[in-house]
Amino acid sequence: NKGNYEHYMQKEIHEQPESLTTTMRGRLIRGGSCKAKTVLLGGLKDHLKTIRRSRRIVFVGCGTSYNAALAARPILEELSGVPVTMEIASDLVDRQGPIYREDTAVFVSQSGETADTLLAFEYALENGALCVGITNTVGSAIARHTHCGVHINAGAEIGVASTKAYTSQIVVMAMLALAIGGDAISSQARREAIIDGLFDLPNRVREVLKLDHEMKDLAKLLMAEQSLLVFGRGYNYATALEGALKVKEVALMHSEGMLAGEMKHGPLALVDENLPIIVIATRDTCFSKQQSVIQQLHARKGRLIVMCSKGDAASVSPGESCRVIEVPQVEDCLQPVVNIVPLQLLAYHLTVLKGYNVDQPRNLAKSVTTQ
Ligand code: UD1
Ligand code: F6R
Repeated sequence: NKGNYEHYMQKEIHEQPESLTTTMRGRLIRGGSCKAKTVLLGGLKDHLKTIRRSRRIVFVGCGTSYNAALAARPILEELSGVPVTMEIASDLVDRQGPIYREDTAVFVSQSGETADTLLAFEYALENGALCVGITNTVGSAIARHTHCGVHINAGAEIGVASTKAYTSQIVVMAMLALAIGGDAISSQARREAIIDGLFDLPNRVREVLKLDHEMKDLAKLLMAEQSLLVFGRGYNYATALEGALKVKEVALMHSEGMLAGEMKHGPLALVDENLPIIVIATRDTCFSKQQSVIQQLHARKGRLIVMCSKGDAASVSPGESCRVIEVPQVEDCLQPVVNIVPLQLLAYHLTVLKGYNVDQPRNLAKSVTTQ
């Protein structure tokens, strides 16, 4: 049921304040006078000790689910102190990469039925790792066969392009980082700030959804382009990859997400006055580096669209020709949840303007159950 919306993708983008609320329901505790703010993930509580003691956490997924894990990686590293590595499911299987008994392998899958992810899971299980699932689908293969896990509870996602599952996956993995981080005194203030940020997140997403019209205008400007680059780094490297994935899969436009730190190592050669480039430069510890990326792209006459925190338009914009997307600022590790929304809206509007099928892009299936 699409309700008042024309497409499932549109509905699922706009219902993110609600889906995020459901994801967090009953799992965040902002205790009374003597109780600290904590996280309770029922599916993991008996396994947290083992996860904390593991030598490594390996995230495994495909497509958008992989990108969600990438967005959560920095906060998991920060709060757990455990090294976190990333594996695209098919690549782990192709390489038969090393997985050990001392590893915790976390399988991220909206459907819980993706063939590549399931094969990687079987491989990790054979190698003795603790296997954790993060899925939207109760009763799916991942949910049933992993040792433990967390349901993201985002509600059924029907549009082939994953939107609300992405943001809920990031929130679950941020909660996972908080749960593994436990009660270390050194990071208590940080953990509490993140928990406050999580409580507030649905409101911030509601606010960023108001950019809908602005993103439609931007889509009109970009709809005839051949290509679109998205530069991000740190917490928002994943946002760059995921924004570009949305644009290519539904709007059928070539788009690449790039790590801004790699710009000078090749991609800079592409820059000219025609190729549109989105630079994500919201406030975090990478901000000044992104400011200098913007300056360098501008010096080469790059056609820039900059995403920045509210109030920062003047400090990021190198000149009149630059378009700015201002988004609400949230706790740095939660910023990817806010920042992806305008890019989801952009991909949606590009697709509708071009007259393509938004909910079922050509050649794609919702659940990829073959290799
Ligand atoms: C569970 C109930 C929820 C109830 C809540 C009350 C289910 C599905 N969830 O939620 O309805 O309101 O208790 O306390 O009945 N699991 C895996 N692999 C996965 C995902 C989950 O093994 O990929 C396991 C978990 O380890 C857990 C169970 O499935 O044992 C349910 O997980 P989850 O729904 O996340 O747990 P709760 O949030 O506690
Ligand atoms: C992108 C998309 C795909 C899926 C990928 C993994 O919008 O939908 O990239 O994310 O096929 O699917 P799940 O998460 O079901 O394992």
